[in-house]
Amino acid sequence: MQNLRLLKKQAQKEIEKVRDLKELDGFFRKYLGKKGEVTQILSKIKILKKEKRVKAGKEANLLKNFIKQRIEMKKTHLINVSAKDPEVIDITVPGKRFPTGHLHPLTQIQRKVEEIFQSMGFSVVDGPHIETEWYNFDALNIPKDHPARDAWNTLWLKNSKLLLRTHTSPVQIRYMEKNNPPLRIIVPGRVFRREATDVSHEVNFYQIEGLMVGKNISVANFKAIIQGFFQKFFQKDVSIRMRTSYFPFTEPSFEIDMSCLNCQGKRCSVCSQSGWLEMIGAGMVHPNVLKASGLNPKNWQGFAFGMSLDRLAMMKYKINDIRLLYSGDLRFLNQF
Ligand code: DAH
Repeated sequence: MQNLRLLKKQAQKEIEKVRDLKELDGFFRKYLGKKGEVTQILSKIKILKKEKRVKAGKEANLLKNFIKQRIEMKKTHLINVSAKDPEVIDITVPGKRFPTGHLHPLTQIQRKVEEIFQSMGFSVVDGPHIETEWYNFDALNIPKDHPARDAWNTLWLKNSKLLLRTHTSPVQIRYMEKNNPPLRIIVPGRVFRREATDVSHEVNFYQIEGLMVGKNISVANFKAIIQGFFQKFFQKDVSIRMRTSYFPFTEPSFEIDMSCLNCQGKRCSVCSQSGWLEMIGAGMVHPNVLKASGLNPKNWQGFAFGMSLDRLAMMKYKINDIRLLYSGDLRFLNQF
């Protein structure tokens, strides 16, 4: 029994020196493991005579429980200390990399376009997605019975006269109501059409509207600005051509084609063998539009234009299906 007392003292001293869980494990094995000192004593006790066995067994078990208890206490202590101790943080473990997103290709294009027009003195202006008939049609010289209304397949809001704007042109009126010329603005934004979708049509897409009004603004100004824009945007030499067209809110109206970037005008499948790509609808602001905005057409004149941001993105990145831009498919989006 002398033995047990010595062993207890020894164990007590040793556990004091234990500094981490690994050493604690060694301590456990030394005393309570399969071949541990206390375990061995207990197995020897089994073969003692009954009187001795009962007494020795009791004391050995007391020692066993004592050591067990000390181990538990030490373990709790060690865990607590390691949680508090900054030294225990392994600073060599590589950091966790959080996935960062990036801007959608359409947003990237929009920002680029804004930057170019801002460098030419244009302000960037915004307008509401939900519009009234007045701003979307009437004020733009598209009266109720005008056949041109058919061209803007409109999504009407239920039980109201409101609609989802079919183009960014209403912002021309909204801006001129509140701001006096001379003015130069672009209006990038989302527009909505009730259309069947295919590679070049979506129910929602993005446009950029442009408007410049002053005393002597002419088609020549427009041409120079648009040519400059394309040059900067595509970073290539591009020629443009103007064809006459019709829009109710401009007079005269024209469409602008750009020489095909793919074949440099030599004719290919991208440009349907014409050498040109249709890019912009434009014209000189119709006097009725100026009047609807509260301006006197005798004093002011200017040009307006509208183009699809999606089309610009598709040209720049050679995307062949507009629906990809709205798919949310990361295999597509991660390429930009
Ligand atoms: N709003 C027209 C459309 O959605 C595009 C457009 C054409 C805008 C001519 C203009 C313009 O400002 O002058 O198709």
